[in-house]
Amino acid sequence: MRLNDLFSAPSASASSLLTTLLLLTPAPTSAFYLPGTAFPTYKHGDQVPLFVNHLTPADRDHDTQVRSALAFDYYHPAFHFCKPDGGPQNVRESLGSILFGDRIQTSPYVLKMGVNETCKAACKSQELGLRDVKFVGKRIYQNFNLNWDVDGLPAAQLKFDQDTNSEFFSPGFALGEIRDEKPALNNHYDIVVEYHQAGPDAFRVVGVLVQPSSRADSKYLGEGKAECGDENKPLYVPEKGKLEVTYTYSVIWVPSSTTFATRFDKYLHVYDPKIHWFSLINAAVIVTFLISMVSTILIRTLKKDIARYNRLDQVNLDDLSGTGIADEGVQEDSGWKLVHGDVFRPPKNPLLLSVLLGNGAQLFMMTGFTIAIALLGFLSPSSRGSLATVMIVLYTLFGFIGGYVSSRVYKFFHGDAWKQNFAYTPVALPGLVFATFFLLNLFLWAKQSSGAVPFTTMLVMLLIWFVISVPLSITGSWVAFKRPSVDAPVHTNQIPRQIPPAGGYLRPIPCALLVGALPFGAIFVELYFIMNSIWHGKVYYMFGFLFVCYGLMIMTCASVTVLMMYFLLCAENYHWQWRSFLSAGCAAIYVFAYAMIYWIRSLSFASWTSGVLYLGYSALISVLFFVLTGTIGFFATWLFTLRIYRSIKVD
Ligand SMILES: *[C@@H]1O[C@H](CO)[C@@H](O)[C@H](O)[C@H]1NC(C)=O
Repeated sequence: MRLNDLFSAPSASASSLLTTLLLLTPAPTSAFYLPGTAFPTYKHGDQVPLFVNHLTPADRDHDTQVRSALAFDYYHPAFHFCKPDGGPQNVRESLGSILFGDRIQTSPYVLKMGVNETCKAACKSQELGLRDVKFVGKRIYQNFNLNWDVDGLPAAQLKFDQDTNSEFFSPGFALGEIRDEKPALNNHYDIVVEYHQAGPDAFRVVGVLVQPSSRADSKYLGEGKAECGDENKPLYVPEKGKLEVTYTYSVIWVPSSTTFATRFDKYLHVYDPKIHWFSLINAAVIVTFLISMVSTILIRTLKKDIARYNRLDQVNLDDLSGTGIADEGVQEDSGWKLVHGDVFRPPKNPLLLSVLLGNGAQLFMMTGFTIAIALLGFLSPSSRGSLATVMIVLYTLFGFIGGYVSSRVYKFFHGDAWKQNFAYTPVALPGLVFATFFLLNLFLWAKQSSGAVPFTTMLVMLLIWFVISVPLSITGSWVAFKRPSVDAPVHTNQIPRQIPPAGGYLRPIPCALLVGALPFGAIFVELYFIMNSIWHGKVYYMFGFLFVCYGLMIMTCASVTVLMMYFLLCAENYHWQWRSFLSAGCAAIYVFAYAMIYWIRSLSFASWTSGVLYLGYSALISVLFFVLTGTIGFFATWLFTLRIYRSIKVD
């Protein structure tokens, strides 16, 4: 996964600038750097580091399908890429960066600031054996990209977006290409580095493009020298047999007027701003429609209901005949008041529900704050994996909220298995995520893919979780446990009421499908861009859109659940607790279905391992989404029921 690539942003063109401004996206420029940050500066002739990252699948212009979900280590033995003297070293990375797949290592490529080089050998010729040739050929068919990093900038290819009529840098460049239906391996790289002069003999790197090419008759001459072959004679990867490869490169330094602070702007490209607008307007229309519907229906009917109930009460009080006939008058009345003696009856499995809600609340806070932080421009694309790192840190810290909410809900449900509640809350969701990651990792290890999270990283995650998150969660649970419970406005009767059978859309499954569709409707276009950034490696920086969409989704989810639960209560069914959670959570089914459609439409995996990975990640994301929307639905309904039952008089 390349979630860390979830950045992108506005290019300089006027239309997207407008989009940017309107969408509250931070000015991408200096916002990424705090004032006073020392920018890396080089003197003429200083060596600029070139690091290599993992190889990732991509789509090509002639082929919009991504064919793999795996990523490979740059120094995977089959590639035989040149290694630096003394072997490659790992470069320090943030936790988020490692978790989302970055494997950054040193390389033999020497870039000297401002010194042009033509045709240098990266190392002596490499011989690819039978199996290596097969492996490399397959990776070329799957459109794998090399990902290099020069002074913190991803090496890119220049692309042109016809929709917005603008050029932009697309990170990564091709391992090889298909020529005459045969795979050709790129063994020469023209590295174009744009530099900016910041002072006398002070230069900064502000852009990196790599133009790879395939040259069959390159020769290694010894001592770092080489002879570069003709570009028009590609180095084909044979189906059978060995292959001798000479890797060569040239370095071209081009002065540029781009300043260091704005060097990422070219990379942050907005794909289809029109579709983004469409998505936003679409969501806004749904939400306005829903909220006006909910408010008119509910407020009007409720006012009438409450007035009627209270008038009937008045009649009862006036009519002091004491025969109980008047009471029956109320009883015969229909509507949600009838279930007042049951509406706050604890649901079945209160422990499970409270644990899920606690975890949902934690997820809710984490998502909201992450998007807000990204929106404010604190997630610099120059520090890799910052998005993932922020997510992990926030999730850990919000452990307190998770514990608190779980415990508070549990108390309201009159639960008594407190130890279990305390223990399960911090374990449930992280446990699930760990288990999924671990299982998927087994596949990745078996495939020697670099996507596998290193064992030590897993240990670090466990440590963070045990040392910080679990104690925070337990503290939260304890605080809520000590507080008095939320007051139910009406008493619960001893004997549960019979629930009359309900038909139509109030049956569990139609109800859930109906409720789930609308929050999904609020986000589905945005989902397309997120999926593109995860699986197609397209940079995503539309946090302004995402923030608004998140808000709209919350409102849709809350209002449609409340509306449905109102109908449910009117039908004298008081099992709103699980129903609200499950119905709202049903949006996740649509998300999963969407992921499957996306698979059919824009991915065509060549191996079943990729399929398993895709399924695994999709299922995991859907489950998280289920808990998130379910929690929103439950709390909206809870507040609603407390509110309406508080406003009626019950004797
Ligand atoms: C390097 O070569 C390019 C293209 O030939 C040229 O435009 C540029 O000025 C050269 N840079 C230096 C520092 O000589």
